[in-house]
Amino acid sequence: MPETHYTIVIGSGILPSVWPQIKAAHGGFNRFVVTDEHVVAAGHLNTLLGGRPASHFIIKPAGEVSKTIDTAVAIVEAMEKAYFGRDTVVIALGGGTVGDIAGFAAAIFKRGVPIVHVPTTTLAQADSAIGGKTGVDSSASKNAFGAFWHPAAVYIDIATVATLDDRQYRCGLVESVKHGLIADAGYFEFIESHLDAVLARDLDALETLAEHNCRIKGRVVEEDPFEKNKRRILNYGHTIGHAVEAASGYELLHGEAVAIGIIAAGLIEGELGLSEPGRSDRVRAVLEKLDVPTKLPADMAEEMVIDLLRHDKKAVDRWPRFVLLDRLGQAHCEAGQYAVQVCREIVEKVVRELR
Ligand SMILES: NC(=O)c1ccc[n+]([C@@H]2O[C@H](COP(=O)([O-])OP(=O)(O)OC[C@H]3O[C@@H](n4cnc5c(N)ncnc54)[C@H](O)[C@@H]3O)[C@@H](O)[C@H]2O)c1
Ligand SMILES: [Zn+2]
Repeated sequence: MPETHYTIVIGSGILPSVWPQIKAAHGGFNRFVVTDEHVVAAGHLNTLLGGRPASHFIIKPAGEVSKTIDTAVAIVEAMEKAYFGRDTVVIALGGGTVGDIAGFAAAIFKRGVPIVHVPTTTLAQADSAIGGKTGVDSSASKNAFGAFWHPAAVYIDIATVATLDDRQYRCGLVESVKHGLIADAGYFEFIESHLDAVLARDLDALETLAEHNCRIKGRVVEEDPFEKNKRRILNYGHTIGHAVEAASGYELLHGEAVAIGIIAAGLIEGELGLSEPGRSDRVRAVLEKLDVPTKLPADMAEEMVIDLLRHDKKAVDRWPRFVLLDRLGQAHCEAGQYAVQVCREIVEKVVRELR
């Protein structure tokens, strides 16, 4: 099992320096890059390699449809065809899809070789590149095959998100908002007061975001690497978010569904007397300014969302647990547990209020 402590390098325009750093850290190892067609088209593979030849695998089509066991098998077989062995380091250059597939392939190749993440989306830089969760989907569910496989290092070039399309860019920021809500009120306030700069992809603002995201997620994961309890706080907004994402047939992007889930969690907090004056309005205002949805799509049946909640993978007695806030920057903890029971009546009422 790789170390849970690893180097995270954050900077603007650092991509050209990443290759020599990986070479120095893994002297004598073969380097194998996994990326996708859009990341290549945006020029990031060229920048990473700087004209050097390197074995690589380009995922086509880009995105969740390719997050399958077949793609992981194809990557493993490409490494074998190149005569690569245990002395190989896999480099994931791309968003969360690339990171999850490449991380999984690295975890299973010859019983595990190091993975280096070079995330290029707002979601991957804030969330998926850190924490060691890897996996691919089955035909029935997301991340059905998976492994915890911590990276050897993470290199975050915040400038790479300049080429990301607007919808992807905005929805990846929802995880940053989540980090502020669960762990750091000051960070939430920073996002709130610097949203224009963040939306303009201002590099100073993005650097501050990356530093906070890595510190918050890193600390939580270090405390609870295998998600026994504390790590569950990272699922804030995700219980109803995942159900909404599935109910949309994955038409909604993950961050969009989580935004609705964060609003729902706030409504549950209101029902349970956990709200603070003005908090839910501030959260809603930030999400609205990000231009992510805060209501269920008009054509989505509430019953479908409720039914999907019963199928939540973390459900106990066919009903999931919820992460809630005590106050801004502080997750609610009940009898030592961060994922708590909420009765069906309240959840059903809240889902109906998401109109
Ligand atoms: N492992 C974890 O802890 C974790 C956490 C959250 C999400 N995830 C997973 O992450 C995935 C979603 O990640 P994502 O939102 O980054 O999606 P993604 O990797 O599919 O990227 C979104 C789109 O942007 C393109 N793209 C990526 N970087 C680009 C760039 N710099 N310029 C232009 N285009 C670029 C991609 O090709 C893709 O079309 C899901 O599969 C989800 O399950 C994993
Ligand atoms: Zn998420």
